[in-house]
Amino acid sequence: MTGKLLIVLMGLPARGKSTIAGKIARTIELDDVRVRLFNNGEQRRILPNENSSAPDFFSPHNAEGVALRDQCARINLKKARDFLIDSGKVAIIDASNVSRKRRQLIEETFFDVPVLFIECVNDDEEALEANLERKAFLKEFRHLPAREALDLFARRIGYYESIYEPLDKERNRILVDSFEACILKEHTTDLIPYYDRIRDIITTRIVRNLFLLRHGQTFFNLEDRIGGDSGLTEKGQAQAQALARHFTPWRLPIIFTSNHKRTQQTASPIAEKQENCSFIALPEFNEIDAGICDGMTYQEIKETMPTVTEARRLDKYGYTYPKGEGYASMEKRVHRGLQKVFYLNNIDDNIMIVGHQAVNRMILSYFISRLKEEVPFIYMPQDRYYHIQVDPYKRIFELTNYTDSIG
Ligand code: F6P
Repeated sequence: MTGKLLIVLMGLPARGKSTIAGKIARTIELDDVRVRLFNNGEQRRILPNENSSAPDFFSPHNAEGVALRDQCARINLKKARDFLIDSGKVAIIDASNVSRKRRQLIEETFFDVPVLFIECVNDDEEALEANLERKAFLKEFRHLPAREALDLFARRIGYYESIYEPLDKERNRILVDSFEACILKEHTTDLIPYYDRIRDIITTRIVRNLFLLRHGQTFFNLEDRIGGDSGLTEKGQAQAQALARHFTPWRLPIIFTSNHKRTQQTASPIAEKQENCSFIALPEFNEIDAGICDGMTYQEIKETMPTVTEARRLDKYGYTYPKGEGYASMEKRVHRGLQKVFYLNNIDDNIMIVGHQAVNRMILSYFISRLKEEVPFIYMPQDRYYHIQVDPYKRIFELTNYTDSIG
């Protein structure tokens, strides 16, 4: 079978395997390559066995569970093989595949096709925890209280860990840090079709639709005061309602906000109009900390601390508020927040972030190339939002009006 390829994902649950699998499938499909995904979890969920979500189903000592999971794996191997024998070019198996034995079976079944294993790891505890919490919302756990779902899921992961053997002997293998979207190790023996493309896809962030919103008008905004934790004015609430109406045609599985009241009050009506929309507040998206100037107006700062105003005027990007932050010192944490967003969001889903003026400028600068000193001046209105689309083919930034929906 020349020119064909089998890609096999490998890793513990909640390590971003499906995101990477989906990203590869979607992009090479756009390259006009016939590709198909085979997911063992989906195969398992259509089994007539009612207990296939219970943790003990995944115990290596549960003979029935082992046999059924083996059966799912074999069904998918057969489907993937048939697909490649037919006119398919790239088959992708999305499953844990944590044991060497399972991977040997795959290599033996596909003796005449190059097999590329991609192992996904993530050592970022916080991101992992947030991802687990998100998994607890999945259909198979939805009937349970969140804490119980998390415990069950953790037990399931424990079983996988007990038999985990990292990639090592496989002929072709890539080790990926799925939180950082970077390749940690790679080794190939065979000629792998589309290798350069796949490598590039793994390390490229793909954003289907990212809606970057600034919170609605606050009482502090009215007085031109910075920082604080003020709530929305009547106009701000009307803006939030208008946003909620505007976004009803879009499916938003998660809305990311900061820890501040104003972003949550803006996001709340939007979430209410969605079905199964969860909220994730990330401290990484909190507004720039103005330190000793927090709660003051720009005029008050100018009058009482002219050196602050002057230093900021000379280098707004590099300047750090006394006992606070600056754009430069905030960059790392905001990008970390974005990494969390990418990690927690399914590749095919739309993303919404409700943030603040300075934070949103940093977020936008991640996607558009701007001189650093220009970042603190990026236009960030409250009556419009940025609609961002990025993939290996295009980059689109559209400043979109939603105020038509204000009733
Ligand atoms: O004025 C609203 C606000 O979000 C403040 O809380 C923050 O300090 C400021 O915008 C950031 O904008 P700039 O860097 O232009 O002062």
